[in-house]
Amino acid sequence: MSHRREVSDFEEKVREALLSPKNQGELADADAVGTVGSPDCGDMLRMWLKFKDKDGKRVIDRASFQSFGCQTAIAVASMATELLQGKTAEEARELSANDLTGGLGPLPPMKIHCGQLVEGALKSALDQEPALPSPSVGRTLSDAMRPPSGKIRIVPLD
Ligand code: FES
Repeated sequence: MSHRREVSDFEEKVREALLSPKNQGELADADAVGTVGSPDCGDMLRMWLKFKDKDGKRVIDRASFQSFGCQTAIAVASMATELLQGKTAEEARELSANDLTGGLGPLPPMKIHCGQLVEGALKSALDQEPALPSPSVGRTLSDAMRPPSGKIRIVPLD
């Protein structure tokens, strides 16, 4: 398949995903929350994770997101929050930006940082697991911030 064709397939799938994005909004009883901003474009994304015990393992029960970003970041975050369900923190940590796109397919080169925004928010949230007591009452977002890794910068939101 040509590069141009791959990009337009990807964009078409993003458009479809945006018709009904999944898991948008705050998870009130989340165990962990991660927020990142992209130095490339200034967009921001926050992800919440709620864990549960299943068959003796602690796995992600629900994930949700809020995006102040582009359509690609929203579509990838929607896919990511679906595919994270049932994964352990270790399994989730292994996922790259391209893994998180799910059925959208590989990120076109110009959109890689959009996927990395989702990956960064996920890793930022995972950095709080399992140290974060559940529920996370009394912990402010700025308490929860960790030093950034790679090109991702953590930015507090109002
Ligand atoms: Fe900024 Fe996509 S253009 S995250």
